[in-house]
Amino acid sequence: MKALILSGGHGTRLRPLTYSQQKQLIPVANKPVLFYAIEDVIEAGVGEIGIILGPNKEQVIETVNSVDWDAEIEFIYQGEPKGLAHAILVAEEFLGNDEFVMYLGDNILRDGIVDHSEKFKNLDPDSLILLTEVEEPQRFGVADLDEKGRVKKLIEKPKVPPSNFALAGIYFFKPVILEACKSIKPSWRNELEITDAIQWLIDNGYRVEASIVEGWWKDTGKPEDILEANRLILDGITSKMEGEITDSKIMGRVIISEGTVIKNSTVKGPCIIGEGCEVVDSYIGPFTSIGSGCTVVGTEIEDSVVMDGSEIYNAGRIVESLIGKNVKIREMDMMPKGHRFIVGDNSEMTL
Ligand code: G1P
Repeated sequence: MKALILSGGHGTRLRPLTYSQQKQLIPVANKPVLFYAIEDVIEAGVGEIGIILGPNKEQVIETVNSVDWDAEIEFIYQGEPKGLAHAILVAEEFLGNDEFVMYLGDNILRDGIVDHSEKFKNLDPDSLILLTEVEEPQRFGVADLDEKGRVKKLIEKPKVPPSNFALAGIYFFKPVILEACKSIKPSWRNELEITDAIQWLIDNGYRVEASIVEGWWKDTGKPEDILEANRLILDGITSKMEGEITDSKIMGRVIISEGTVIKNSTVKGPCIIGEGCEVVDSYIGPFTSIGSGCTVVGTEIEDSVVMDGSEIYNAGRIVESLIGKNVKIREMDMMPKGHRFIVGDNSEMTL
């Protein structure tokens, strides 16, 4: 079986972060979201992965290639993002006549896809889709199931959802899906929807089975989703201490990476601090991920994601924040006193 992982799209709901970073590269517990998908398909035994690229394609290629994966990786450029079914058509040559799993690279699952992959092999349907119960089904593709749990109908972003079962962004397919993708028309949002392609399979007598996701699942489309995914991943970490700790208190499960110095501070897990950071006179609280090369001085920070190279000096107390790369936050030390900002378009500050 092959895998197709999607790493395109503009990530508009994650601006300003996505002006400079492809959304699937945003780190959750100091690892790009996309890497969780790659790890999941490799764990399920996939040896050939096609990664669909959109804007920022060089960035994705460089980041993926910085790791020595236990699989062959091919990059496929989608050009204009015209929908998930369009992504499959763009990958036609790569997919050949093989079965494959399609995994949206901004989705993250606690338990991976091994069990679902086995179910696909055992039940041998034309497609197996992962479903998960959500509170706001109108934000997703939604499945209507019959009494036996088989898929009757799929609707993309329904105003009146037939159930709470959302499509989790992970789909197993037989090659017949290519014919389905070629047969459908663009939707109201002018995209070739994967939900319509799967509906085409159902309408043409092909068998579509569902597999329910048991552990947590997160689509990291919005800032609060990134923070939530960060909490969920950090909740499962085990401690690792590689840094240098002086006059500090470390509590709970904490990962402190190589070359990091913690001085006169309190670190309360679960949290992760990357390589080469300096944390002085500070409090790093639960559910915080601090990237590599960061400096935190005289500041309390918790329930937040701070990306590589950021510097925070005497900033008071920071909570529930997403801080990009190389950001500088510091105390005002000159007159006139007042908040002084240089923030990009679509930034959000809560004072
Ligand atoms: C896409 C799919 C939708 C699915 C969702 C999962 O939505 O079209 O069916 O439920 O991913 O993340 P989009 O992210 O394009 O709004």
